[in-house]
Amino acid sequence: MFKTNILVLLSFLNFANSQNWIRSGYVYSGTEFPEPDINSRPFTHLVCAFAYINSSNYEIYIEPSDEIFMTSFTEIVTSKNPSAKTLLSIWAGKPHSSGEANSSMFFDMINQSSHRTSFIESSIMAARQYGFIGLDLSDVLPTTPANMASMGSFFDEWREAINSEPRKYDTPPLILTMGAMYSPVMDSLIYPVNHIKRNFDWVHVRSFDYHMSSKDRFTGAHAALYDPSSNLNTDYGINEWIRQGLPAKKLVIGLPYHGYAWTLVNSDDYAIGAPAKGMALTRDGSISYKEIKRYFNSYKVKPVFNSTYVASYGKFGSIWIDFDDVEAIKTKVSYAKEKGLLGYNVFQIPNDDANWILSTTAQEEANNQENKQQLWVIILSTTLAAMILVSTTICFLKRKSIISKGKVVWSRRDKYTNQQSFTFAQIAVATDNFSSENKLGEGGFGPVYKGELQNGLQIAVKRLAKSSKQGIEELKNELALTARLQHVNLVKVLGICTEREEQMLIYEYMPNGSLDNYLFDLKASNILLDKEMKPEISDFGIAKVFEKDENAASTRRIIGTYGYIPPEYVKGGIYSRKYDVYSFGVLLLQIISGKKTSSLYGSQKNLNLLEHAYELWKNDSSMDFMDPTLDDSSSACKMKRCMQVALLCVQERWEDRPSMLEVSSTLKNETENVPTPNMPAFSTCKRSDGEKICNSMEVCSASMLTITQEMPR
Ligand SMILES: *[C@@H]1O[C@H](CO)[C@@H](O)[C@H](O)[C@H]1NC(C)=O
Ligand SMILES: *[C@@H]1O[C@H](CO)[C@@H](O)[C@H](O)[C@H]1NC(C)=O
Ligand SMILES: *[C@@H]1O[C@H](CO)[C@@H](O)[C@H](O)[C@H]1NC(C)=O
Ligand SMILES: *[C@@H]1O[C@H](CO)[C@@H](O)[C@H](O)[C@H]1NC(C)=O
Repeated sequence: MFKTNILVLLSFLNFANSQNWIRSGYVYSGTEFPEPDINSRPFTHLVCAFAYINSSNYEIYIEPSDEIFMTSFTEIVTSKNPSAKTLLSIWAGKPHSSGEANSSMFFDMINQSSHRTSFIESSIMAARQYGFIGLDLSDVLPTTPANMASMGSFFDEWREAINSEPRKYDTPPLILTMGAMYSPVMDSLIYPVNHIKRNFDWVHVRSFDYHMSSKDRFTGAHAALYDPSSNLNTDYGINEWIRQGLPAKKLVIGLPYHGYAWTLVNSDDYAIGAPAKGMALTRDGSISYKEIKRYFNSYKVKPVFNSTYVASYGKFGSIWIDFDDVEAIKTKVSYAKEKGLLGYNVFQIPNDDANWILSTTAQEEANNQENKQQLWVIILSTTLAAMILVSTTICFLKRKSIISKGKVVWSRRDKYTNQQSFTFAQIAVATDNFSSENKLGEGGFGPVYKGELQNGLQIAVKRLAKSSKQGIEELKNELALTARLQHVNLVKVLGICTEREEQMLIYEYMPNGSLDNYLFDLKASNILLDKEMKPEISDFGIAKVFEKDENAASTRRIIGTYGYIPPEYVKGGIYSRKYDVYSFGVLLLQIISGKKTSSLYGSQKNLNLLEHAYELWKNDSSMDFMDPTLDDSSSACKMKRCMQVALLCVQERWEDRPSMLEVSSTLKNETENVPTPNMPAFSTCKRSDGEKICNSMEVCSASMLTITQEMPR
């Protein structure tokens, strides 16, 4: 049971994580750009390039002249954007002097076990030493099948080493990304896609440089999204990666912040594909976006956007330049969204113009749909994760063996499939005409009745009060969401009844009622207990309400139940990802103590439950906090551990709270060290009355939030 739930939990968290769009970009130490000016704000990840492979010992090394750049990179990037993550990129491409794709140090390295070990160990060390959270392998080319086979096993080894690196409690493993060619298949050679899929967090593809003025004798759209006459285009490459088995969710599209300058043969013939003599303006014809803009501005030329290729070009005299302007970047980002890709990667950020127009365009385009879609997925999945963890913990504490074949299925089926439409008559018969004996309770938007269908199945009927406009919306949400989620710990919605202007939801009946019948004040009355005391979760109406709010980060409505709401939400309306971690912590404290959040504790009756727990824990009297009826004195240590984890979850600063992943790992591994919790949230708050945690009232008026008490039902 425990294991199963953890797996479910992990799959949730993975799901949630994978929903975050990656907005990454390279910064190459070799550019003239003064690094403190890096605009990291539009990006989630910044990739610092490059570390190289030492040809004599196969360790990675950093050029002495780059040392200072690498050392300060993370600090500079995060000073402007604290949430930006940094990765160290290792150059695995061919040395510039060689034409052979497989003549690189990289292939020499992967061919021999001792070389691989040197590389792997040194790469992990370098990443940690310079403060990077991940490693990127850049520009590996597909070569011979033998090489590809060793590449595959090398990837396995690298990932294995990264996962087993001894780490501190709060340090996640390094992430691993790969910069690959635009298509996985090149000249009938193919990357080891399965190994890549297994071991890398994502692959960002080089969806540019299809045509270069140093090679081609015709003008080309070097980063064409589409090309009616050739496979050298981004759409082809992306489709090929997906066809070869890399999930779209692991693919990151490349956005070039550079173009190529050609010299035209005939300055009157300047369509895409016109004859050209070769490169212009620079040594290899490549030219940064900011330079391109400077040229176009000084020649007062407006570039043309060709929507067939998704590329911009323009000319002055016999010089012709193709590049991605704002329209192309926009189109590509929305293409990546529609395709279900994980994000985009810019090569390279310093080439943007002085106003960061490309970077902000890309970010805005990405945010357009992202906020709305993502928020409720995160909320829902963390809520579920928290709830599942609660159920796990209850089992853990009560040592109750419960059989679970739990598995979460995110079904893409239609909203109402699998669900029955009931007639009013059926429900009336089942509930004995909504008799008061059958009334189980009264929720936020109407009464709930117990009933029995003619086939003997016991049901609970939530009958929406006709006056409740609010409720209809939430009922629909609840139905739509629970229909898409099937899990052993979710209360199953059997169907609906909408006859006679009724709005009723028909659930499986949970004979043991809410958990709060057993632990008196659990505001998690949404955790229901079935006849085996197996916890199930209901009430998803809330989660989706967020979707409608325009601003993802702050909402004007108080949603949730006081006592379970973390300070950042109460005070600033900030919905942090650790919201549910906090609620989970509160719930866990109640479960282990059997005490209410709405009372005051301590010798002077002036401490709220969180403070009380913290005081006892600090004074090493944790056992005084425990609910004696849990009757588990043999495992005092286990209880203390739970309490400490709970206290970590309710810390004031959400950044300090562990992730659910860490919580689960701590509860699972009894040997793992648990950090020392800081003061819990709301500690400084002094109350006079004993009814509520004061903040709910106080802050609501302070920030003039409209209060809609959605729960409890
Ligand atoms: C490569 O490794 C050798 C042997 O350890 C060392 O002498 C040399 O300085 C290293 N080269 C670079 C560029 O770091
Ligand atoms: C490099 O690849 C070529 C074909 O692309 C092959 O003929 C050659 O043997 C390879 N060399 C090595 C050292 O693997
Ligand atoms: C890989 O190593 C084997 C011997 O271990 C050698 O025969 C082969 O040429 C090497 N291949 C490359 C590409 O270095
Ligand atoms: C795009 O360029 C191609 C090739 O030069 C041309 O045939 C086509 O008409 C252009 N399309 C647009 C919409 O400009």
